[in-house]
Amino acid sequence: MTYSGSQLTAVDAPLLGVNIDHIATVRNARGGRFPDPVAAALLAVEAGADIITFHLREDRRHIRDEDVQRLKAHVPVPLNFEAAVTDEMLDIIERTAPEHVCLVPERRQEITTEGGLDVLGQRSRMQDACQRLARAGCRVSLFIGADPAQIQAAAEVGAPCIELHTGALANAWWDGDAAMLAHELDRLKAGLKLGRSLGLRTHAGHGLALTQNLPVGDELVKPGQVSSTALVAALPDVSELHIGHALMGHALFVGLREAIADFKAEAVIARRQASSN
Ligand code: PXP
Repeated sequence: MTYSGSQLTAVDAPLLGVNIDHIATVRNARGGRFPDPVAAALLAVEAGADIITFHLREDRRHIRDEDVQRLKAHVPVPLNFEAAVTDEMLDIIERTAPEHVCLVPERRQEITTEGGLDVLGQRSRMQDACQRLARAGCRVSLFIGADPAQIQAAAEVGAPCIELHTGALANAWWDGDAAMLAHELDRLKAGLKLGRSLGLRTHAGHGLALTQNLPVGDELVKPGQVSSTALVAALPDVSELHIGHALMGHALFVGLREAIADFKAEAVIARRQASSN
């Protein structure tokens, strides 16, 4: 069965936040105005994206300030603004007033967001940021590892949501490391369960992909292999997935519209299968 457009929003599956950062990465490679991340966001919404996610990094390596303003002006679904916990970013978020914010750790030299926030080690800073953003009308999520102490701390500082970092799980999947994959999946499940028991809304993301994204000749591509997206989407406690890099890579082959439909269908089918078992 194929799923498209509104069929995909009607089922009990995690919402899909489409991260558009890498449209801006490609644009910036030539320093011009094309491809436009806002145009990509609009197409993503048409194709079934529930949320548009972007990360305004301190070095502006992909999304830029003027993109943020145009996203706010033109995108008809909730924006999920990812940012580091700095005064500059909190000011920009307050001015923009996106529906959702995901606070992330940021290190200048990293290629992507490598780990989760240390909420435990900076409780008062996190509490202040959560309060400030709540006053601006934003729903705040903290991007953390599936570590019970960090999850507990996130609840204590007043964040209504957490996004659990699936990077280690995704790497185990790409590497075909079954033992590590099982370990990371267990850790994620336990983290989600704890988060829910503390009254948090629980999201997941980072590095998630489809089986057709594996490299040619990869001995792991075999019938019945389950994608990292399906493994995570099947977990009943996941209410949102945020996916960027593999989805944009997939779009190079099949187009952005079909790439979004493929990731949504993967999540919907995985959740349906899990709930019927
Ligand atoms: N969630 C958060 C908080 C992120 O920082 C990122 C990467 O920007 C993602 C999800 C998406 O990760 P990926 O691009 O690997 O799918």
